[in-house]
Amino acid sequence: MALYFFLIFSLFVGYNVVDGRSKSAEDGDPRLRHVDLKGSLPMEDDDFQCVDIYKQLAFQHPLLKNHKIQLYPSFSKNSRKIRSSYVGKRCPPGKVPVQRIKRNHMRSENFTNAPIAKFHQLSNGYYPGHHYATLDTVRNATFRGAGSLIALYNPTLQLENQFSMALIWVASGPPSELNAIAIGWAVHPSLYNDTLTRATAYWTADGYKKTGCYNAMCPGFVQVNPDHYLGDGFDEMSTIGGRQFAMNFTVKQDKSTGHWWLLISRNTSLDHIIGYWPKEIFTHLADGASMVSYGGTTRGSNGFSPSMGSGYHATTKYKFGRACFFVRIRIINSMYEETDINADDMQTNCDAPPDCYTLLYVGYQEVLNAKGHYFAFGGPGGMCDA
Ligand SMILES: *[C@@H]1O[C@H](CO)[C@@H](O)[C@H](O)[C@H]1NC(C)=O
Ligand SMILES: *[C@@H]1O[C@H](CO)[C@@H](O)[C@H](O)[C@H]1NC(C)=O
Ligand SMILES: *[C@@H]1O[C@H](CO)[C@@H](O)[C@H](O)[C@H]1NC(C)=O
Ligand SMILES: *[C@@H]1O[C@H](CO)[C@@H](O)[C@H](O)[C@H]1NC(C)=O
Ligand SMILES: *[C@@H]1O[C@H](CO)[C@@H](O)[C@H](O)[C@H]1NC(C)=O
Repeated sequence: MALYFFLIFSLFVGYNVVDGRSKSAEDGDPRLRHVDLKGSLPMEDDDFQCVDIYKQLAFQHPLLKNHKIQLYPSFSKNSRKIRSSYVGKRCPPGKVPVQRIKRNHMRSENFTNAPIAKFHQLSNGYYPGHHYATLDTVRNATFRGAGSLIALYNPTLQLENQFSMALIWVASGPPSELNAIAIGWAVHPSLYNDTLTRATAYWTADGYKKTGCYNAMCPGFVQVNPDHYLGDGFDEMSTIGGRQFAMNFTVKQDKSTGHWWLLISRNTSLDHIIGYWPKEIFTHLADGASMVSYGGTTRGSNGFSPSMGSGYHATTKYKFGRACFFVRIRIINSMYEETDINADDMQTNCDAPPDCYTLLYVGYQEVLNAKGHYFAFGGPGGMCDA
């Protein structure tokens, strides 16, 4: 199993960054030592394989036949320099890691027969068994991206065909043509054949009808990072009342190319640049997003919805360290500037009864050492369709 190398925030230890690699070198964490002995990450295994960067699935997309791959975003100032000195530890030069598809499970996992988290602000109504608790933009504006630290938890599911995710969405267009990208984490057994919390994303360019998929499972998403990929796991989870770990997720449009980049972790080096969704695969999103949402979503089964977030409700009493949370919630405005969200432009939405899930947005807060816009969300689930 994979992946110990996403950078992590530990809010209870002075908000330091803990890097799996340096940590293993310094204190010999036994779980890390086996992969770090020779100074390398695990090579191909059950979870991923290394593929030629120019021959990845992305380029089978009919609109990407003549696509010129972009190796680093134009907004990352030092990226050209870093790229030339950045040698991947997982895949050999010229190759990138791609999640292995677990065929048995993927058959039932496409947008036609397995409704994913449809973007609720513009969906045509209510999908039984599907729920969300989100903080959404209300102002009609153009957004060039969004980001937040998202606490890492591992909510419990009852059945294989359920899922529970914590995501940031950017979207644009009318429902039948909806363009959307969602990024964050998911516990999703029918996708991953396990109950781990994994870095997860999906996209659509037509309201989830024929285009799009999770991660890089269909032509579209271009992977450039030689180490970190969608579907990867995390080395640490937050515990109720204990240490809180969070990842910095960002999706951001490139001003010069129009592509939508995925950045995960805090590090401003190339290390966190995972890849991008080319603007060619979109219609509306090519011109920016008109809506942004942050929060949790679940799919239930047999009338029963699973836990969201940590499984605990957002309450003022236990606002920190019990419910899952987003903090330092950011938006990238029409000028491509990264700013805090504005409370006046946001509203909270939840389509489930309050005993299932809640979301508590408290605006700008100092959460231990992390200052920024903050909300807690989640709950135990239950019979939420009633
Ligand atoms: C799913 O996981 C089970 C238990 O670990 C394993 O036996 C099975 O082979 C996996 N299925 C696929 C398609 O990978
Ligand atoms: C998705 O599911 C539908 C309905 O079962 C099926 O017709 C279609 O071929 C599937 N698409 C893919 C890409 O597997
Ligand atoms: C948002 O603005 C666009 C462009 O000005 C306009 O076409 C659209 O109708 C507006 N939408 C809403 C919901 O006001
Ligand atoms: C999160 O990542 C974004 C994009 O790289 C960066 O601008 C921002 O400063 C990061 N935030 C934190 C708290 O690390
Ligand atoms: C980012 O990661 C690189 C390579 O892993 C490391 O050299 C650098 O110190 C890190 N920077 C920060 C701000 O953590």
